[in-house]
Amino acid sequence: MAATFDVKLETTVYHPDPSYREGARMGDWETAYQRFLDDPEAFWADIAGELEWFRPWEKVREWNNPYARWFVDAKLNITANCLDRHALGDRRNKVALIWRGEEDGNERVLTYRQLHRQVMRFANALKGMGVGRGDAVCIYMPLVPEHIVAILACARIGAVHTVVYGGFGASALNARIRDANAKIVITADVGYRRGKRVALKTIVDEAVVNAPSVERIVVLRRASPHLELYSEMEVDFHELMKGAGLACEPEVMDAEDPLFILYTSGTTGPPKGIVHTCGGYMVGTYYTTKYIFDLKENDVLWCTADPGWITGHSYIVYGPLAAGATVLITETVPDYPDPGVWWRIVEDFGVTIFYTAPTAIRMFMKFGDEWPAAANLESLRIIGSVGEPLNPEAFEWYYRVIGSSACPVVDTWWQTETGMHMITTLVGEPMKPGFAGRPIPGVVADVVDREGNPVPPGIGGLLVIKEPWPAMMRTVYNNDERYQQYWNTINSCYTAGDLAVKDEDGYIMVLGRADDIIIVAGHNLGTAEVESALVSHEAVAEAAVIGKPDPVKGQAVKAFVILRLGYEPSEKLKTDLTYHVRMSIGPIAMPSEIEFVQSLPKTRSGKIMRRVLKAKEMGIDPGDISTLEE
Ligand code: PRX
Repeated sequence: MAATFDVKLETTVYHPDPSYREGARMGDWETAYQRFLDDPEAFWADIAGELEWFRPWEKVREWNNPYARWFVDAKLNITANCLDRHALGDRRNKVALIWRGEEDGNERVLTYRQLHRQVMRFANALKGMGVGRGDAVCIYMPLVPEHIVAILACARIGAVHTVVYGGFGASALNARIRDANAKIVITADVGYRRGKRVALKTIVDEAVVNAPSVERIVVLRRASPHLELYSEMEVDFHELMKGAGLACEPEVMDAEDPLFILYTSGTTGPPKGIVHTCGGYMVGTYYTTKYIFDLKENDVLWCTADPGWITGHSYIVYGPLAAGATVLITETVPDYPDPGVWWRIVEDFGVTIFYTAPTAIRMFMKFGDEWPAAANLESLRIIGSVGEPLNPEAFEWYYRVIGSSACPVVDTWWQTETGMHMITTLVGEPMKPGFAGRPIPGVVADVVDREGNPVPPGIGGLLVIKEPWPAMMRTVYNNDERYQQYWNTINSCYTAGDLAVKDEDGYIMVLGRADDIIIVAGHNLGTAEVESALVSHEAVAEAAVIGKPDPVKGQAVKAFVILRLGYEPSEKLKTDLTYHVRMSIGPIAMPSEIEFVQSLPKTRSGKIMRRVLKAKEMGIDPGDISTLEE
């Protein structure tokens, strides 16, 4: 398969209000990037120097491809930076965490001082159960403050947390508990979702069968009457807290000690346990929260992800708290009790930085402008996107309707493996819909062919990172060979597995996963590209595209389309859409078949599982579907 292909690049350029550029912490991209290139180690050392270390590093980085060590021999504890630094200083009474439950008025607020104390208590409770440095703890909880407390308490004592998203089922949970060898599972009796209870503890009961490493299950009991705890393995969260001492010194960790394992689903094979370490990950997430979100002291940051995903780890918990931000979390879903609920939350709490996923943005587009229009969104300063390509149509809607045609849209490209933002458009810089932007200062990214040669602008290729960065994963747990593959597939570069294209200004458009490529008559097409074309049609809310075997062309494009409210399926519409794709991308991208559907198979993090559509289409086994939402 050829690794390069032509991509059309014209786009409108949007300029955010000039005040953004003047006030931006990072300054302009050219100067900041040059400062990094002039002395990469000094660049990272300066950022790391903003944080507190028990002992400074001997060397900023040591690189023996594919193994990196950052802040060599430095000692730290990430919670000393996320908590003590603020709670014992000027931010003592600053709000660290705001939580909103499903019903209005169901709110909790924790200052840095309060969060600090809760984390220390729970850290002591963990210690009391024999959990220590290097032990694995599995956290399987709804999005409540105790979830954040549990994560930080592990980090406080040097235990390695592995958070499993509360939407996963028993077998997925069991596989992760076993792979990580978790000693403790922390859960809740229930989560609340769309007014219904989700019985998490019942799922844990099933998941710990055949998981011999598990010694205790800690249960946060929310519902009344209280769920009975039966076996002596089970302990109540609040009882533990009551019995635990208040002071807990942070464990002195080496910069390269593991901080957490987070499982990410491979397109094939079992989930990979991505391992992140204490020092580099702290520096990377702190840096990007402060400089990519351009964090100011009075910001209220709402990242709508779940802590069960890397986005939650990096931009709900570690990055924002290390930077001393006020973080909003909520258990509410975007469309219950109605599609206006999130916008009312923005208004109620004066959210200034809003960070969500394209799939949510497209869903809001489908509901219509009247929902955001009913709330006052003036507090918003910066709006972000992550997780998949933000197609130009969705960008424009987001910018216009949510950002009042003023807020910068930071479309951040990164991965579980990268730990931190890698490519985006800096606040204040010109924005190009469809393009994530340029590599951020600190990151060397490029688009190359299979041999690792950079491809010229307009030619699609593989997205790679050419130099190590502090927040990079250090290994795949129990599978270092899989880790090595990331660095040895293409000529000493980190291969992200995504297809991308650059323009003349070095802006990078991410086209989608390399494995989601469709080859039609020898032409490579990114599914994301065709989907983006379809979604840019006024009748289309969401689209998924797969390659279907074709006797003549090799593969043909089949599209699954969800229509917007007010549009009806018809043969005429199919013809219109086909024509629309032809005009947007070219004849090779024209779907040979369009099917109108009510829903698409998605992972719980909102990614369309094209492989499931494909398997169904071809009547074959879809493989592992443990990450499927419904
Ligand atoms: O394909 C890219 C897509 O999501 C993948 C990483 O997924 P995950 O590890 O689950 O992390 C998601 C949250 C960081 C990438 O390989 N992706 C992520 N962000 C973007 C994106 N694709 C296009 N544009 C983005 N901004």
